[in-house]
Amino acid sequence: RTNNLKMEGSSNLRLENCRAKGGSPGFKVAILGAAGGIGQPLAMLMKMNPLVSVLHLYDVVNTPGVTADISHMDTGAVVRGFLGQQQLEDALTGMDLVIIPAGVPRKPGMTRDDLFNINAGIVRTLCEGISKCCPKAIVNLISNPVNSTVPIAAEVFKKAGTYDPRRLLGVTMLDVVRANTFVAEVLGLDPRDIDVPVVGGHAGVTILPLLSQVKPPCSFTQQETEYLTSRIQNGGTEVVEAKAGAGSATLSMAYAAVKFADACLRALRGDAGVIECAFVSSQVTELPFFASRVRLGRNGVEEIYPLGPLNEYESWLGKGKERVGWKH
Ligand code: NAI
Repeated sequence: RTNNLKMEGSSNLRLENCRAKGGSPGFKVAILGAAGGIGQPLAMLMKMNPLVSVLHLYDVVNTPGVTADISHMDTGAVVRGFLGQQQLEDALTGMDLVIIPAGVPRKPGMTRDDLFNINAGIVRTLCEGISKCCPKAIVNLISNPVNSTVPIAAEVFKKAGTYDPRRLLGVTMLDVVRANTFVAEVLGLDPRDIDVPVVGGHAGVTILPLLSQVKPPCSFTQQETEYLTSRIQNGGTEVVEAKAGAGSATLSMAYAAVKFADACLRALRGDAGVIECAFVSSQVTELPFFASRVRLGRNGVEEIYPLGPLNEYESWLGKGKERVGWKH
């Protein structure tokens, strides 16, 4: 298996050089956890992204198969697979963007603490690799609980002396994607025309959709507001229950991750006005990490926007979170 991967790597190198001579712009992207429920569709969608020139797929299982499969797609990105921790450094060297959907989902009999402990350990190992091999890469962290894995990643980078808060982003895009979809349903509009800022964190009540700031401007009845807020906060559970034990959101998450990664790559290219919600190191509230609208640029997060005016209901929801330190 390893030999096959190596052979594929060398022929891919010729392809890569050939494309570089053609002057095609592109970024090097690694997906860590690429063989998982999110990782596989995410890898497929990133292979379709014209801003990607090299796509590295890393996991502790099954990357040869996923890589062989995806590498047959006739799109520009050169795909290479990396299997097991001994290949982590090769997977990460030279990357511009690292997307992390690695992690164990909760199984019967496991507590959230068990999940936290395992995923925290996985994220720590992967971030140690990033510090060593591509300390300047933008990191998109998907592994749950995002509210905790992002601070853990920050500590790993600090310890290694490579921490740049602008480059570490927790992916909350699925909350925005869900909010856009559910609001569009209520309004009878196309979800592509809707933009809902979602702030706070990425778990249950810490997810706060700012329905008073939806674009285009619109208004909701109190009943609609409560329905939408609850559905957006519990979107993950809706999928978990519908999948009845077969996992959590994977396809919509892969879509959201690619939407977010594409925004990061456009910003890296130098596009102006790239604004998305993300869970980042923040001074918007007194919490050290907070999800809000950020402007992305060549260095990652270049500006963090204030929350803007909250209506009475949103302030009330925020006040309920004083126990986690949110005073807005
Ligand atoms: P999955 O179990 O299908 O896939 C996880 C993959 O990670 C597996 O292929 C596994 O082999 C791999 N993995 C495990 N340990 C690893 C390591 N040390 N290094 C590299 N890869 C490793 O799980 P799924 O459904 O893809 O979810 C992945 C994570 O994403 C979970 O933590 C889940 O809670 C989270 N998630 C986050 C969302 C968000 O909005 N941020 C939404 C949905 C899920």
